[in-house]
Parts: sequence; C-alpha cells; structure tokens
Amino acid sequence: MNFIDRAIAGATTWFTERAPAFMPFYKKHMSEYYAPKNFNLWYYFGSLAMLVLVNQIVTGIFLTMNYKPSAEEAFASVEYIMRDVTGGYLIRYMHSTGASLFFVVVYAHMFRGLIYGSSQKPRELVWVLGMLIFLTLMAEAFMGYVLPWGQMSYWGAQVIINLFGAIPMVGGELTEWIRGDYLVSDATLNRFFALHVIALPLVILLLVVLHLGALHEVGSNNPEGVDIKKAKDPVTKIPLDGIAFHPYYTVKDLFGAGFFLMIAAFILFFVPTFGGLFLEHDNFVPANPLVTPEHIKPVWYFTPFYAMLRAVPDKLLGVMVMGGANIILFGLPWFDRSPVKSIRYRPMLHKVLMMLFAASFVTLAYLGMQSGSTAQTWLARALTLFYFGFFITMPIWSRMGSFKSVPERVTMHD
Ligand code: HEM
Repeated sequence: MNFIDRAIAGATTWFTERAPAFMPFYKKHMSEYYAPKNFNLWYYFGSLAMLVLVNQIVTGIFLTMNYKPSAEEAFASVEYIMRDVTGGYLIRYMHSTGASLFFVVVYAHMFRGLIYGSSQKPRELVWVLGMLIFLTLMAEAFMGYVLPWGQMSYWGAQVIINLFGAIPMVGGELTEWIRGDYLVSDATLNRFFALHVIALPLVILLLVVLHLGALHEVGSNNPEGVDIKKAKDPVTKIPLDGIAFHPYYTVKDLFGAGFFLMIAAFILFFVPTFGGLFLEHDNFVPANPLVTPEHIKPVWYFTPFYAMLRAVPDKLLGVMVMGGANIILFGLPWFDRSPVKSIRYRPMLHKVLMMLFAASFVTLAYLGMQSGSTAQTWLARALTLFYFGFFITMPIWSRMGSFKSVPERVTMHD
C-alpha cells in the first residue's frame, strides 16, 4: 500500500467509526444499487431533472442577492441584474431558461413512465410522489414568473389567482387571502417571493428524496419491462441483468449531462428567450395595472392545461377541467391494466393511442398559446375530451389486443 492508499483507508476508517450509517447508505443507493443494464435514452431524464433542479437552486441563490422583492423595485432590480451585475444576464437566463428545460425534462420523464409502464405495480408510490413533485413544480414556476413584475407576471397572476374566485361560497375570500390584498400587489409579490425561494424548493427537495427512496426500495423498471429481480446469481444474489449504479450509471449519466448541457448552452447563448416562448416579450415591459396586454397567456409548459380551461365556456367547470386534467394523472398506475409493462410488447392499439395522446397534448400546448378562434376552441374541446377519454377508458383498452410474450431476461435490442 502506498502513502495515498494508506491515507484514504485511514480517512475511511476514521469516518466510518464516527458515521457508521453512511457506508451502508452509500452502498444501498450507489455502489450496490443494481439497475437494469439496458437503460436507454429515456432513462437520462431522471438524472437530468436533478441536474436542472441543482441549477435552479444555485442560480436562484445568486439572483436573490440582487433581486428586490417589492412592487416598486422588482422590475428595475431584474434589469440591474441583466445589465450591471457581473455575469448577471447569464445567471438570470440560466434560471429562466432552466425553468423551461426543467419542464421539457420532466414531461419526457413522465412520458417514459407511460410508455414503459413504469408507474405500474410495484412503482405506484414512485409515480404518486412524482406527481406531487409535478404539482409543486408548477406552483413554483408560476410564482417565479410573477417575481420580475413585468406585464405578463402581473396579468398572469391576476388571471390565475382569479380562477380560485370560481369556487362557490369561499371563492371571493380565498382569492383575497391568496393575494393578501384586494388586487395583485406588493403583498402578493412578497409572499410569492417567500414561497418561491424557500418554502416550495424545500418541499420539492424533500419530495425528490422520497421519490428516489421509494424507487430504490422496489428497483428501477427498464425499457423491456422485465423484472430483473427474478433472475439472480445463486451465490451473490445480485440480479444477473443488473449493474451497479456507481460507477456504471454515474458515468453514463455524466455523458448524458454533458450532451444536455451542450444543448442548454446553445439555447442560453443564442436564443435565451426562445423567441418569446421561455420569457414572453410582454414581460420585458414593467407591470402596469391600468394596461391589459392584448393576449394574456401563460408560459408554454402551462398552455396544454390553459387550453383546456379556455375550451370550457363555464368558469367553474373550466377550473374543474383544468384541475382534473392534473389530478387524473395520479391515477395512471391503476388505470393501466396492461399485463405487460413496456410498449415494446404491447399491441398496436396501445402504441397508436399513446402516440395520439402525445400529439394531442402538444397540439393543446399550441392552442393554449393562440388567441382562441372558434375553430381553435372546438379543436381544444375535442382534444380535451380525448385527453380525459384516454385515461377514463384506459382500464378497458389497456387489456385489449394481443400482447407479445415478454422474455425472462433482458434482451439488448432497439
Ligand atoms: C424534480 C423532478 C424529478 C426528479 C429530480 C426525478 C428524479 C428521478 C430519478 C433520478 C429517477 C431514476 C432515474 C430514471 O428512471 O430516470 C426517477 C425515476 C422515476 N420517476 Fe422521477 N423525478 C422527477 C419527477 C417525476 C415526475 C413528475 C414523475 C411522474 C409523475 C416521475 C416518475 C418517475 C417514475 C415512474 C420513475 C421510475 C422509472 C422506472 O424505473 O422506469 N418523476 N425519477
């Protein structure tokens, strides 16, 4: 043993004696967590979501150093960050572009869950915790968007908070309670700041820990939907189709992160507002309670749900449809009764329906960004019906058709 090896061994012993629970924890979740060896591109998105989460927290801390959470100063403080703070423009865009990339990554991550049946038994809890993350993330993004106190911040907050007014009996008082005032004001901005910078990030972090904890209890699914725990080495009891998360997947995920960062850097340096999709043009104009922007619309990641809201002529019903579109996602593990998990072994019917679902979700996102002509509203109505129909009838269609037989062991093909 050379000097360095002796030093490392000594430090490890010293540390283990003082924190005996650390090594077993590290082994359980890293070096002895056996993940299926056939993870594909879709399996990068979990670690990428963590990467973006860290980016949001770190850039958020630096933004907070110069941001002023008051209706008087907020807009100017953001402009100050953009123009005068060293590297401020980069930090701000890393945060605002990061928010959009977070949703790109999380939507892809959720879609993977759908096509590979990852939410099915025994991973229902992983999915439900994921859904809680998703809802908290939406609240976090909404409140973050209010902070620069631009026109869209102000009017977006106005529209969304007013939706709570549709709730019978308590609606009026509830909206006042959320705003902390009779209209969206300094008080609203202050509480949104508190929730955005500390309360919700803490909740998200906690939920992510629980999400991964729940996943590691049951183990990861994979693109084949094969349960790797069924075939173990008789002596070591290690799944034959499993490989240790560390070093194999830490290295693979690093590669994915490198690729993702290249795309992120391109967007960041060349198209940070993505043509008004990530940061709307109207939000570069200071909030003015006396001038309503021509089209009030949320950022792209909310527009599928916003399109559903607008498709319904009644306000309360619209709010219920929009809320329901989120809540229904919780039920996926129980709606999906398919005897096989992965889309690879499912009948053509499943493949077609899932692709149509993805296409209709993207179309709804597009419609939510438009002004809402009569034709667009009718299309949004049809797609809203399809969205709900997809889930409500899933217990029936997910059992229909002829399924291919799933192999006993993981096979490595496309
Ligand atoms: C901050 C957001 C999130 C983070 C950081 C995160 C992180 C992760 C990580 C690291 C994994 C393991 C690697 C992988 O399978 O990709 C994972 C798995 C999983 N996540 Fe998430 N996740 C997030 C949000 C969500 C959401 C919103 C859902 C769904 C509603 C979800 C559902 C799942 C499922 C079902 C698995 C197991 C997949 C499988 O084994 O095939 N996650 N997540």
